[in-house]
Amino acid sequence: MEKFLAIPAALVSLGMLSVALAQAPSVKELMRTDIIPNSDRLFATGDRAPRTPQEWIALQTSLDALNRSAMRLRSMNTNVDWQGYGTTLSELAAQASTAARDQNLETLLDIGDKAYETCEGCHKHYLPK
Ligand code: HEC
Repeated sequence: MEKFLAIPAALVSLGMLSVALAQAPSVKELMRTDIIPNSDRLFATGDRAPRTPQEWIALQTSLDALNRSAMRLRSMNTNVDWQGYGTTLSELAAQASTAARDQNLETLLDIGDKAYETCEGCHKHYLPK
């Protein structure tokens, strides 16, 4: 009987391990899968603004995702400066989401500049040299 139980137990613990790994991406993974693609949509509005209601909604969705990723990023380090950059990025993403809802391109471009400065500010302190 024990033999029959051993395999499912191993599978369960493997499953729990992959859940644990899925919940704890590295900073680099979070950059690659969330922060970079979602912020790119904000930065791209300077070259090509959304043209249809669907494109504005897609932008808003990316900015809401960026907000969540920034909060997650914030929680990945207890340093006060790090958390400050995370909070700033999250707040800027929230403001940008509202601007996208209002289709306010000028405000979006302004927020895009500030967001870029926030990325750079954190990288100056924390990128591995
Ligand atoms: C709170 C700090 C912080 C903020 C804010 C931040 N980053 Fe990062 N970023 C990092 C750190 C730390 C790394 C290095 C991770 C590593 O190499 O392990 C990194 C790495 C990167 C990389 C290199 C990824 C790779 O494949 O090696 C890019 C590109 C990047 N960030 C883009 C951005 C952009 C765009 C923003 C703003 C929208 C941003 N980051 C905001 C901390 C931050």
